[in-house]
Amino acid sequence: MENRRIFIKRCLVGCAVGCLTMAAPGLSASVNAKLPQNPISKRNPQRALVIWYSQTGHTRRIGRIIRHAWEKAGLAVDGADYREIDKSTLSNYDLIAIGTPVHYMDVPVNLRDWIKTLPRIEGTSVAAYVTFGGKGNGQHNTACGLLELMTEKGGAAAGTGLFGNMSTFAPTWSAGNAARILAFKDRPNEKTYQQARAFADSILATVAAGRTQQIEREFGLESLMGIVPQIGLTKLMITNHHIDKSICIKCGTCLKKCPVGAIDLPAGSVDYQLCIACIGCVNNCPTQAMKMNFIGKPVYGFKEFLKRNSIEIAEPAELNL
Ligand SMILES: Cc1cc2nc3c(=O)[nH]c(=O)nc-3n(C[C@H](O)[C@H](O)[C@H](O)COP(=O)(O)O)c2cc1C
Repeated sequence: MENRRIFIKRCLVGCAVGCLTMAAPGLSASVNAKLPQNPISKRNPQRALVIWYSQTGHTRRIGRIIRHAWEKAGLAVDGADYREIDKSTLSNYDLIAIGTPVHYMDVPVNLRDWIKTLPRIEGTSVAAYVTFGGKGNGQHNTACGLLELMTEKGGAAAGTGLFGNMSTFAPTWSAGNAARILAFKDRPNEKTYQQARAFADSILATVAAGRTQQIEREFGLESLMGIVPQIGLTKLMITNHHIDKSICIKCGTCLKKCPVGAIDLPAGSVDYQLCIACIGCVNNCPTQAMKMNFIGKPVYGFKEFLKRNSIEIAEPAELNL
């Protein structure tokens, strides 16, 4: 009961802060907090690794562009989703890039938990990048947070990159606010890809010069939103989350996409406690068998959203080869 009361109080404070922030964005003037840096031990990188967490492809696409740019510069580069990485091989690399979507204004909890289990990477240069939706919420601090997690493992901070996309937060369009997402329907585009190539090159230049980047989080009204238990709040608005077995083709996509093992395919159920509301299951189900309501409205996924709005994402030239 007490916990519930605290939870409701935090939600109310958070909503008040949220409304204030949205109503008066100019109030988000920032104060910077600097953190200690680890020195670079490998200035002439030969082997690099690009790690991404991606639910709907935006972060993977940017990761692949970085990989391609570094290969073009003569490095031997591996790249994969974090779930496919053999952690014991990390010490083989001189340079690492790690990317994530912004989820609830932060590094997704599943990726955060995974990074905490990594071995030490003393002096290895690390670049962190995020992809975000629309105008973006919390993207700068999320990139800083990701880099901080890697520096806690001994990595030397080489830089941060922020890449804007059409948001994949399915509850927004499903609840009738598609226009907010469609305002950014042309993203990612060639400008985004140019930005990714430039980011990859700038990281190489930074490392070659032996420089590190100061991680500077911004503290403004918007960052106060962090006190809101956003996942819990979203989960309160989600109901009827289950698999419709009559249309499920048992392809296993939802199992692969769920980062916390919350889905029981044979039973057609989702464990509410484990679920972190990442929407990866709904966003990727090829037959729309993964059901979910958000404030009573049925949620449909990103693939279906693209189809209904005749949107085709133009792939970067180097990845089409
Ligand atoms: C559950 C969820 C939460 C999100 N939260 C935010 C957010 O707080 N701020 C933001 O700018 N974008 C947010 N987004 C949008 C994603 O960060 C963005 O669409 C991202 O590029 C998706 O990357 P991916 O395709 O690699 O999964 C959210 C998307 C989802 C699905």
